[in-house]
Amino acid sequence: MKKGLFISIEGPDGSGKSTQIAALKEYFEQKGMDVVLTREPGGTAISEKIREIILDKNNQEMDDMTEALLYAAARAQHVAQIIKPALMAGRTVICDRFIDSSIAYQGYGRQLGDCVRIINEYAVRGCMPDITFLLKMDPKIGKSRIRDEEQDRLELEKLEFHQRVYEGYVEMEKAFNRIVGIDAARSIQEISADIIAQIEAVLQEDGRNRNDL
Ligand code: ADP
Ligand code: TYD
Repeated sequence: MKKGLFISIEGPDGSGKSTQIAALKEYFEQKGMDVVLTREPGGTAISEKIREIILDKNNQEMDDMTEALLYAAARAQHVAQIIKPALMAGRTVICDRFIDSSIAYQGYGRQLGDCVRIINEYAVRGCMPDITFLLKMDPKIGKSRIRDEEQDRLELEKLEFHQRVYEGYVEMEKAFNRIVGIDAARSIQEISADIIAQIEAVLQEDGRNRNDL
């Protein structure tokens, strides 16, 4: 049984995930909690190599299913090598993107459908976030925050693709209690105060559950 809290952050490209993760790191450190920050695709040497292949702008011929399987492969390694051991040791894990990114980008964006969820259930082997913050923002605005020369193979996809991804996220938010939608079109401080308030509620609940044992 895992002991640490597992948080993932999701949303369109440029929605402010890295910015909010930096603020969360400070919050947990001030509380004296041991926090591990990690990201997908990546987080381990093997997964970072897979990341390079997936995001390389020159790999235009990549098949959609190859892409979905590579993200899942990177995730399987990340869970086994980093996330699961950290949670078992009681550490808090904050992950920049996780399984919901695959369901949104490959399932909805690439229109591969439900097989993406099934593949990823094998990849994560039951290791799911306790809470997921979905930074909600028009993908057009998110995209405009990233300079053209910095855009990777996925970010360079046309706007219709990013609209489908966003619709996928909104559907998932409705379907799963774990996913908390956050209005990301506000100031950095307002957004982080909102996220921290939600985390405080989870930590309080967690404390109550532990006392009940
Ligand atoms: P992501 O990790 O989701 O791609 P980033 O955190 O890197 O997004 O943010 C993308 C850009 O938008 C950065 O230049 C960042 O400084 C800026 N940014 C982040 N949050 C906000 C915000 N709430 N308001 C305005 N700009 C923001
Ligand atoms: P990331 O480095 O998080 O980009 P950004 O910081 O701009 O949000 O992710 C790289 C790209 O990979 C991003 O466009 C989202 C995409 N992606 C998927 O398509 N499927 C996945 O499972 C993951 C984790 C990311």
